[in-house]
Amino acid sequence: MGIEIIATGRAIPAKKLTNNDLAGRIDTTDEWIRSHTGIGARHIADEGVAASDLALEAAQNTLALAAEKTGLSGEALAQSLDLIILGSTTPDYYGVPSTACIVQDKLGARNAAALDITAACTGFIYGLELAAGFINMDRSRKRALVIGAEVLSRVADWNDRGTAVLFGDGAGAVFIERLEPSGRGQRGLVRTILGADGSGAESLMIKRGGSRHPYQGGGDDGPLRVEMDGRAVYNFAVKALTETIERLLAKEDISIHDVTRIIPHQANARIVQAAAKRLNIPESKFFLNIEEYANTSAASIPIALDELNRAGELKRGDVIMTIGFGGGLTYGGNLIIW
Ligand code: UT7
Repeated sequence: MGIEIIATGRAIPAKKLTNNDLAGRIDTTDEWIRSHTGIGARHIADEGVAASDLALEAAQNTLALAAEKTGLSGEALAQSLDLIILGSTTPDYYGVPSTACIVQDKLGARNAAALDITAACTGFIYGLELAAGFINMDRSRKRALVIGAEVLSRVADWNDRGTAVLFGDGAGAVFIERLEPSGRGQRGLVRTILGADGSGAESLMIKRGGSRHPYQGGGDDGPLRVEMDGRAVYNFAVKALTETIERLLAKEDISIHDVTRIIPHQANARIVQAAAKRLNIPESKFFLNIEEYANTSAASIPIALDELNRAGELKRGDVIMTIGFGGGLTYGGNLIIW
């Protein structure tokens, strides 16, 4: 039994902040940001827009596409969902309620279980595997939504040029369905690798707000913000990307030439260039849209999948790798036959 991605969707805030816009506010330049990261702009959610708002829009767009494909109404599809799983570093609320529950209600997915997962930029990779496992555990389950949604502009430190330039807001989603055996060969989610190295936890953190450092307000207790040891995360990311690709190839006993496209987490174009060099494969094998959206953490891979899907660039039979890495530290990859 496998699962297939039958539809994708995304939500991108209209407000776009270019590198030059940022250079007017903090000590940076378009040239530095482009040459060190490949980022040209990022989209920023309006005040009052939270992760669940972007997630809901991405989910509705996904259901609309699934409706075209299946002939069922969006409403019927929402009601047929068994699970909504949402990866986010910037949920609406810390702890409770989950952002997935807010989406579940607004979507009308009243038969779906709903939960958030915290796996930072690897959230979508973790979420897809967990949703597939959930469906495969019980034949009465059939459909799930996997969402990555972030409003990173709320936790960016706008006084720290080392991190402020990196992040953007957005959401992406996929609708997955049990794949009935059809004798047409293996399709759908073929294999997943998931991993973590908690010893690197401190290299990427939002320190305040949890039970370790509860937010008190006032005095030195500034707002929540992302703190990162960029060099440490960079080194981890190149290794994680390279080794996850190698491990997926080895486990499936296929060559890189069998892979149509690799969709990496969009953290830094230089991470991809370094991995391509180590693996001795052309950079063109990797899909990059970081120039437009910057790093949207758990949302970056489903946004990229939706861009490719809606552009007609994912063809039946294509072998796709999605590879994530980030806070935790976490990493993982999915091998999908489209
Ligand atoms: O999605 C989660 C995963 N996150 C990542 O994968 C991020 C991984 N890390 C990175 O992508 C890179 O380490 C960064 C893009 C964060 C930083 O690039 P770097 O080449 O490692 O730069 P650096 O931190 O070593 O800084 C080099 C110089 C420093 O100046 P000095 O000390 O050499 O004078 C920085 O102060 O560049 C300076 N700098 C900047 N200059 C202009 C740092 N940020 C900026 C900036 N504009 N925005």
